Amino acid sequence: MTTAVVIVAAGSGTRLGSNQPKAFVPLAGATLLEQCAKGVQAWSQPFSLVVVAPPGWETPARDLLSHHGDVTVVTGGETRTDSVRAGLAALPAGTTTVLIHDAARALTPVAVFDRVLNALTEGAKGVVPQIPVVDTLISVDRSSMATGDAVDRSVLGAVQTPQGFQAAALIAAYDAIDGDFTDDAAVLRAAGHEVVAVDGDAMSFKITYPADLQRAASVLGATGGQRVGTAVDVHQFDPGVPLTLAGLVWPGEEGLAGHSDGDVVIHAIVDAILQAAGLGDLGTHFGANRPEFEGANSRVFLEHALTLVREAGYVVSSVGVQVIAQKPKIGPRRLEAQTLLSELVGCQVSLSATTSDGLGFTGRGEGAAALATAVLVAI
Ligand code: CTP
Ligand code: MG
Repeated sequence: MTTAVVIVAAGSGTRLGSNQPKAFVPLAGATLLEQCAKGVQAWSQPFSLVVVAPPGWETPARDLLSHHGDVTVVTGGETRTDSVRAGLAALPAGTTTVLIHDAARALTPVAVFDRVLNALTEGAKGVVPQIPVVDTLISVDRSSMATGDAVDRSVLGAVQTPQGFQAAALIAAYDAIDGDFTDDAAVLRAAGHEVVAVDGDAMSFKITYPADLQRAASVLGATGGQRVGTAVDVHQFDPGVPLTLAGLVWPGEEGLAGHSDGDVVIHAIVDAILQAAGLGDLGTHFGANRPEFEGANSRVFLEHALTLVREAGYVVSSVGVQVIAQKPKIGPRRLEAQTLLSELVGCQVSLSATTSDGLGFTGRGEGAAALATAVLVAI
């Protein structure tokens, strides 16, 4: 048996929201790809390693993995299916069994690799690690409304990687299929072969969203460094514009003037996040000298700030923000705003509000202020 492991690492990481591809985001003092390769290299079996990198990132991938022995780096494609094809095309001659592994499952224990290889040794053509589904599942339609009863989860499993195959069978299956498949076992099954399931592992979770990256960092013990940032933002009321506050539109309320949409809540959050990471402030990145941000939705600032912060090696772990204003009344929409802000930032955002007892510019109803505190964790 001659084994190869293909790590597919050519995805862009859209849901992680980073500027660089997911495989190259920092994770515990290295990159996600290095952490994944390190985990795979700990496997006691002999194998050759093929890494599928995003187009244009082959050299950085090769450089990062230079101390990981003999690694073949090839260029990935538009979809995961294309990337796996590229990896299969680069298998060393004589490979009889191949394990396809997502770089995004960087913390997968080697015991899973053993279980997959054992099943192949016992004659399986294809093997998937799977874990029981813990959440209650429901049917949803396209607008995400529940349309049916709960699905019986006892007959369902969630599949992970590495998935193992007799190399010739998988290559033939990939040659035979059309279209996209999200995993390789599905390709083998489409070609009419049976696939065997073995136990997966909770640590093989796929790093998809910022919270997953934070979880991975904390598993690797890399969350020692916490940073805190605090910021205030103030804008004057302007009856001529609609009010956008805490990411929500407030019909019938007087708006806030500003270079952008005047959303003091998001501005204070962005400022606190940038400050915590030591990256300056709103003015540094989106000042009045950046005409492209004129009238911009504050969410654009937030998305950009989150990217900068991740590139600096941090994720936001919690945010508290207080609105100081006579109006609008936050209470009736507080939970709605909190939910939206938490979704936008990717962690718990707590929102509260106060008036200033009629004192000062907020008391006179001339403007609104927001005070935010952000906690960042080093990854
Ligand atoms: N992958 C790949 N080539 C692609 C798409 C995905 O090699 N064109 C790889 C990813 O690098 C990842 C694995 O397939 O290791 C699983 O994909 P996923 O977790 O969806 O990663 P991304 O596609 O990068 O993320 P997103 O879907 O959020 O953009
Ligand atoms: Mg994807």
